Amino acid sequence: MQSSSNNSLKHIAIIMDGNGRWACHRGHRRIFGHIRGARRAKEIVQICSEMEIPFLSLFAFSTENACRPKEEVKFLIKLFEKILVEQGSFLKALNARLHLLGDITFFSEKVRDCLSTLVSQSRGNTGLNLILALNYGGRQEIVQGMKKVMEEVQNGKISPKTIDENFIHQLFPSSVFPPPDLIIRTGGETRLSNFYLWSAAYSEIHFTKTLWPDFSKAHFTQAVQEFFTKERKFGSITKHSRIKHSRP
Ligand code: IPE
Ligand code: IPE
Ligand code: MG
Repeated sequence: MQSSSNNSLKHIAIIMDGNGRWACHRGHRRIFGHIRGARRAKEIVQICSEMEIPFLSLFAFSTENACRPKEEVKFLIKLFEKILVEQGSFLKALNARLHLLGDITFFSEKVRDCLSTLVSQSRGNTGLNLILALNYGGRQEIVQGMKKVMEEVQNGKISPKTIDENFIHQLFPSSVFPPPDLIIRTGGETRLSNFYLWSAAYSEIHFTKTLWPDFSKAHFTQAVQEFFTKERKFGSITKHSRIKHSRP
């Protein structure tokens, strides 16, 4: 997606936070917030698809979320089972392709089966690339990458000269996607919580206090519009300063 600002918006990544608080504020159990959060996620996928944004990442479960009370983790796994089984036609209608990030061996066989079916069924779809981060952690990616490097060192395939940014980048499973241009975090916290540590180096970050189940199309559009007002300098200087400095 391109606007008059010249910023190109290829990849939006969302840390969907605030489900538990949303439910508690209403006198419900936390799990009710996850049900509403899942509904919201589907709406945002639809909106991204309509806006022709090429890549959308949804952070649905972090490696650290496994440390939550057993009942909550169990409920989330059941919820994933219930939701995923119904999404084939949704992806087809949007012409969207599903990709996975993270270690899904953590989940039940039913979740794993549904995910692999959705990934293979949607492989030929040419619209939105939907990346679901499940039991994903940025540090986990770095650990995996370092293991690959050690193997290559042991096999005598690389030397210190081989190692540069491109080499490190291609070690990570997420390197097959463009880096996120815009990361949105709902729920009021201003941290990455182990999301996309490497590729977020130059992401614009939109933090909002809005809790995920309340994050509407208007909130989403506002975050996108704000992105287009940014001048992304990547360590250089603004166009304005460039003109000023070029004068004698
Ligand atoms: C995000 O909402 C969903 C997951 C991490 C699975 P939370 O469950 O973290 O909700 P809060 O932050 O406790 O309100
Ligand atoms: C981040 O939210 C993870 C997901 C939204 C999947 P958390 O609620 O787990 O993050 P912390 O614990 O507030 O950092
Ligand atoms: Mg949270």
